Amino acid sequence: MKDLLVDCDPGHDDAMALLLALASDRVALEAVTTVAGNQTIEKTTRNACRVLTLADRTDVPVARGMGAPLVRDQVTAGWVHGESGLDGADLPEPETEPIERHAVETIAQTAAESGALHIAPVGPLTNVAVALRKHPDIVEDIERIVLMGGTTEDGNITPAAEFNVFADPEAAKVVFEADVDVTMVGLNVTREARLDRDHVARIREMESAITTVVADLLTYFLDVYETSFEWDGVPIHDACAVAEIVEPGVLDTEHTFATVETKGDLTYGRTVADVRGVSDDWPNVEAPNANVAVDIDRDRFVEMLLDAFETYR
Ligand code: RIB
Ligand code: CA
Repeated sequence: MKDLLVDCDPGHDDAMALLLALASDRVALEAVTTVAGNQTIEKTTRNACRVLTLADRTDVPVARGMGAPLVRDQVTAGWVHGESGLDGADLPEPETEPIERHAVETIAQTAAESGALHIAPVGPLTNVAVALRKHPDIVEDIERIVLMGGTTEDGNITPAAEFNVFADPEAAKVVFEADVDVTMVGLNVTREARLDRDHVARIREMESAITTVVADLLTYFLDVYETSFEWDGVPIHDACAVAEIVEPGVLDTEHTFATVETKGDLTYGRTVADVRGVSDDWPNVEAPNANVAVDIDRDRFVEMLLDAFETYR
C-alpha cells in the first residue's frame, strides 16, 4: 500500500480527489495539508475538515498551510467554487480540527516517517515548495510528486497559465526544478477527465448521505462549467493526480524538460514543457526533469471515480 499525502485547496474537484483516495485500498492517506487557492486558507482548511467528516475519516490529520503565495499577490477562484469554496451541497459541520503542526512540517515529517511518500499537490504549490526549501533532504523520502497543475496547451486563468501554477508561479518553479520525481498533470489532459449529468444521476441513485452530497457538489460544478465555459460535462482536474498514484498508467506521460515562466508579462505562471523534444539544453534544469501527462484513459478514470463512490453507498 502506498503512503499518500494530498495537499489541496478544496474546491469541488479537490473534494473528489480526497474521496477517491479514501476509497482506495491501494493508497493510505496519511495526511491532508491545505493551502490558500480556490479560497482563503481558513475556508480551504475548514472544507478539508468537512470532507473528512462527510467520509467519516476524521482519523486522517489535516494540517493548515500557507495562506498566501511566496511572491505574487493572492488570487482565489470563488467565481468557480463559490463563497465557501464548496458551494452547492449540504456538507456537515467539521467534526475535526486542524492539528497544531503546520502543513510544511507535516509534509516533511510524513515523508520522513514514510520513506517513500507519494504527494498529490492539487492546489497552488506553496506548501510543497517551502517544505522542499526548508527540508531539502526530504527528496530522499519522497517517492513521487504527482501534481495537478499547468498545461501544455492554453490556460484557464490567463490564456497562458493554469490556476494552480498561476496562483504561485515561484513555488511551482521550485517544485518542478527540485531533484525529485515530478509528474505534471495539466489541463491538457484533465479537460478530458469529465463527468456528465448521466454520471451524476448514477451517483445520485446510490442514495447515501455521502453520494447525495457528491451529486450535489458535482451538479453545482457542472452548472458553473456549462454556464461559464459552455462545456458538456465537468473536468475533475484534481482526481486525475490521485488516480495516477492509485493506478500508475492511467496517464500517458512524456519524460522531458518542464518548468515555469516567472518573468513574462503575458506568460507569468506558464508551464513550459518540451513534450515534442525540440531542445536538449534548458536553463536551470540539468536533464529531462519531469514526466508530463499528454493523455488520459478517460473511460478508466471515470470507472475509477464511480467505483470509488460506490464504496460510499
Ligand atoms: O486549474 C484547476 C485547478 O485549480 C484545480 O486544482 C482546481 O481545484 C483549482 O484549484
Ligand atoms: Ca484544487
